[in-house]
Amino acid sequence: MPLDLHVFRTLNDNAGALLHDPTSGACAAIDVPDAGETLAAARAKGWTISDIFITHAHHDHTQGVAEVKQATGANVVGPADARTSAPLDRVLSEGDAVTLGGESFEIWHTPGHSDGHLSLIGRGAKLALVGDVVFVMGCGRVQPGQMERMWTSLSRLMGLPGDTRLLGGHDYTSAAMTTRSPMPALPARSIRRTRCSRHASPRRRRPRRKAGSGR
Ligand SMILES: [Fe+2]
Repeated sequence: MPLDLHVFRTLNDNAGALLHDPTSGACAAIDVPDAGETLAAARAKGWTISDIFITHAHHDHTQGVAEVKQATGANVVGPADARTSAPLDRVLSEGDAVTLGGESFEIWHTPGHSDGHLSLIGRGAKLALVGDVVFVMGCGRVQPGQMERMWTSLSRLMGLPGDTRLLGGHDYTSAAMTTRSPMPALPARSIRRTRCSRHASPRRRRPRRKAGSGR
């Protein structure tokens, strides 16, 4: 039976996400930007969080992990550099795998936005948890001097089958599309049309030129 995916806006523009296996009852929080909002989302769905998958160490992705672990006893996995901000039960790196119910996720090291950034690739679920590497109509802020690494990470994700959904860690869609709707999962093929910015913040619209005033 396929995994259930519930995505919700949390903090200011983070995209909280819960993955639930209806057969076993296992439920994974993908990062924990805010403990209270994550626990409330799980409660509203009738799910009990059993696992926490951390994509990267940034504070807005890890600051709620300890509280949710304390409340639920969840098993926490993530990159080594998240150890300073979250209580990891297991450190993940390139080539590892994690499971939720009957679904397995490959661990890819996808640096550029942060040194230890991981993406979790669910071949069977056709779902990739890409943290702050890819957003709808953009990508995460690139660390200084890390453009090559970021491009390598993006290129790997671009190679996923086109029907793979990508789930990013922020929702800047509204700024780009002038609507405030829950962040949709993004088909992998859309990366080919995605613009990569040095900044995570939404692009500013240029003022329209008056007719006859421009090139
Ligand atoms: Fe980040």
